[in-house]
Amino acid sequence: MKGIATLFVGTGAIFAVIGMVWGIQMSATQDHSLSPAHGHLNLIGFVIMTVYGLYYAVTPAARTGLAKVHYLLTLAAVVVLIPGIVMALTQSGEVLAKLGSVLTLLSMLTFVYTVFRKGVGAA
Ligand code: HEM
Repeated sequence: MKGIATLFVGTGAIFAVIGMVWGIQMSATQDHSLSPAHGHLNLIGFVIMTVYGLYYAVTPAARTGLAKVHYLLTLAAVVVLIPGIVMALTQSGEVLAKLGSVLTLLSMLTFVYTVFRKGVGAA
């Protein structure tokens, strides 16, 4: 299960690349209308995923089956929420944004549970 940290941090880095390319595209076209979606991709996809990954890197006891569920939940949250924000911004419906919001919250609640159950660090 040591690979779970690599999965989180590696996936976060991929989301950062996509988010940055999106940011450059927004700057180049001077169309910032989707900037909230870009911001959430970078903050949830990159920053939060990296924080989770670094937590699992320093806390071996937390690398359980629940960590795999946590990874899949976080991945699903990003993959559903970001298109959901785009759809909401373009007035194309809010179902995905709502579902993605709940998945994002569940992912953070899983983190809260894990931190209080397993602690932080190797001790
Ligand atoms: C190549 C790198 C990046 C470029 C070129 C870029 C570009 C942009 C642009 C053009 C905007 C719209 C600004 C506006 O309309 O006022 C924006 C907004 C934003 N960006 Fe980035 N960005 C980059 C990386 C990042 C990263 C790494 C993060 C976070 C970790 C981030 C978070 C945000 C946030 C939170 C917003 C505001 C979203 C909103 O309007 O609600 N960006 N960015």
